[in-house]
Amino acid sequence: MKVTRRKFLAQASLLSAGTLLPKFALGQAQKIRVGLMLPYTGTFAQLGTAITNGFKLAVNERGGKLGGRELEYFTVDDESEPSKAPENTNKLVQRDKVDVLVGTVHSGVVMGMIKIAKETNTLMIVPNAGLDAATGALCATNIFRTSFSNWQPSYPMGKIMADRGIRNVISLAWKYGAGEEAVAGFTEGFIKAGGKSVRGLWIPFPNTEFQALLTEIAALKPDAVFVFFAGGGAAKFIKDYAAAGLRKTIPLYSSGFLTDGILDAVGNDAEGLETTLHYADGLNSKKDKEFRAAYAKAHKSEPDVYAVQGYDAGLLLATGLDAVKGDLTKRKEIIAAMEKAKIDSPRGAWTMSKAHNPIQDIYLRKVVGKENRLVSIAHKALADPARGCKL
Ligand code: PHB
Repeated sequence: MKVTRRKFLAQASLLSAGTLLPKFALGQAQKIRVGLMLPYTGTFAQLGTAITNGFKLAVNERGGKLGGRELEYFTVDDESEPSKAPENTNKLVQRDKVDVLVGTVHSGVVMGMIKIAKETNTLMIVPNAGLDAATGALCATNIFRTSFSNWQPSYPMGKIMADRGIRNVISLAWKYGAGEEAVAGFTEGFIKAGGKSVRGLWIPFPNTEFQALLTEIAALKPDAVFVFFAGGGAAKFIKDYAAAGLRKTIPLYSSGFLTDGILDAVGNDAEGLETTLHYADGLNSKKDKEFRAAYAKAHKSEPDVYAVQGYDAGLLLATGLDAVKGDLTKRKEIIAAMEKAKIDSPRGAWTMSKAHNPIQDIYLRKVVGKENRLVSIAHKALADPARGCKL
């Protein structure tokens, strides 16, 4: 091929223009690498899927771009298995070199993720796992949560039950971070409001052999039972509690994880159950109606609290990236924008606490048919105490 002098010079000047392009402009052309580390198998599989669907809906509503840049997803199934958390997190951080880590559901797994996110200063958004320490003793500038602390939805149920004259409660939960902290939050609210005693029964996660425990509860005859279960395990527990005949004799209460996303699976057995959570059916706000319609259209299923938390993780990341037009090198400005964010969530607008956890309304809900129908606001703008956080 003959190369004329003119062609050669034109080519050379293009090349040098390329090398002179600011790093930022080159970076802009690249996609933002988002690591989704969530459970896609096991008792929390549906939760991981709903979070993923919600996150992608928020991004797709923005034309697939945040801060003007397209996203590339890297996905890891964490199996809700804490022992695999370091290896799984490193797949995303070291191998895939993600810019943002989104995950996870399980409080034990999130602990491993946070350790690596802190060591590598990776921006991280927690779209479920309630581990109190995530926005407490382990809080960090680069760690945000769009869901709840385990304390948060359970604490208000303590007062509701005490106000109803309930004095002696048996708690039953999976014996791991989330179960222990949910029971602790409930107990704190219950005793403060006049409750007398909470006796704890435990079952290893993700075990669902409830029979012996239900027999024990029937024999102990407490005024009421408070539980923490979620996902597939929650559906099984609701059915077993009803089948044991306990619904008629011992009232059952829980945070709303017991009844969210599983009502199709339990038939009539959940009817009338009252729970507290940061989302409910029938909120009737414009935002919630739009979200529910868009989610149902995109995913051919009804959204639940997990879908909302994933959606809000997308909204939060959008707020950070829009503030810097997608320039990830401006970390300080991204963080500042995320800290100041007022998230227009389907659950109702919420703001970020100093410790990076939502300050949000907690609703009392009651199962009516296939809905966790709004009854009242159990606690307005509840902030987690963020014990041990020094941000
Ligand atoms: C948790 O492990 O933090 C957890 C899991 C499932 C829920 C809520 C909390 O529904």
